[in-house]
Amino acid sequence: MKLKGKVALNPRMDAAASNSTMPYFDALLRRLAENEPDAQLAFGRHVHWGYWTDPEQATGTAEDYAVAAEAMCRETCDAADLRHGLRILDVGCGFGGTIASLNERFRNVDLLGINIDPRQLARARHLVQPRRGNRIRFVEGNACALPFAAGMFDVVLAVECIFHFPSRDDFFAETARVLVEGGRLVISDFVPAPETAATLHDYSAGEGGIVERTYGKVDFFCTLQRYQELAELAGLQNLGSRPITPHTLPTFIFLRKHHRASPVPEEARRFDRATMRLEVASRMGWLDYTILRFQKPRRLAARA
Ligand SMILES: C[S@@+](CC[C@H](N)C(=O)[O-])C[C@H]1O[C@@H](n2cnc3c(N)ncnc32)[C@H](O)[C@@H]1O
Repeated sequence: MKLKGKVALNPRMDAAASNSTMPYFDALLRRLAENEPDAQLAFGRHVHWGYWTDPEQATGTAEDYAVAAEAMCRETCDAADLRHGLRILDVGCGFGGTIASLNERFRNVDLLGINIDPRQLARARHLVQPRRGNRIRFVEGNACALPFAAGMFDVVLAVECIFHFPSRDDFFAETARVLVEGGRLVISDFVPAPETAATLHDYSAGEGGIVERTYGKVDFFCTLQRYQELAELAGLQNLGSRPITPHTLPTFIFLRKHHRASPVPEEARRFDRATMRLEVASRMGWLDYTILRFQKPRRLAARA
């Protein structure tokens, strides 16, 4: 990937203009437009949790966070058994960080990112250029109504975004449609423990819905059992899941520090409180950061 310096996004392309329902992205885009160094480093490429092989080694710096965010991207992508020459769709692609990483690692790949927020896509298009032999496109659209023909992709990725989508059922149906037979879907999501669903529900709705007022609509209530049902309904095979919460926990230390450094005091307080709620849910084991894998089965060849 070729990264072109710092990107000065038009701050006038604001939340109202894009109908944004994700206050955390409004704040991040503003801090990036102001060229805040830690925001650039930690969230200029990926906007997701970090992965530390050894969480004890986390240093709490923006540099360390950027390395951990790239490691999370790789942990997720590698669950899709990628190789050169594939057609890969990254749904909810953010600033194009996953596409950028794949572009650096694989040859002769078709990489397509889709996102509902044109401000993020503008940044992605500016930052990510295809290596020779690769092809990259960023498209505006909804994960639940994919503007692509059937069987267009070998792999669909949804990195830390499915909880925002209007409907997981629609996303699964759409993914099953656009995948080739044998194609794979990999998702990273916060998966609730079934026995603590009620506690989690009450807790995340606390302080006047502070989690939603910060992170927008987030549905953290899809259990592994429900994922199994979604896969069956869509005709996908469940290839299993990998819980990785302990490897992600240093995220909270950095994220809360980042939020508290916001120059807008009300925002600093609210974002810190909302993130603290997610931290408690994760440390208590109510929510498990999980990588999930699915496959579209190959139809058996008709017998002669
Ligand atoms: C936490 S960010 C993750 C971004 C990116 N996957 C990454 O890992 O850096 C969640 C992303 O989901 C996108 N998103 C939310 N709702 C969406 C929808 N209905 N369709 C497509 N993208 C959506 C947001 O705009 C945002 O980019």
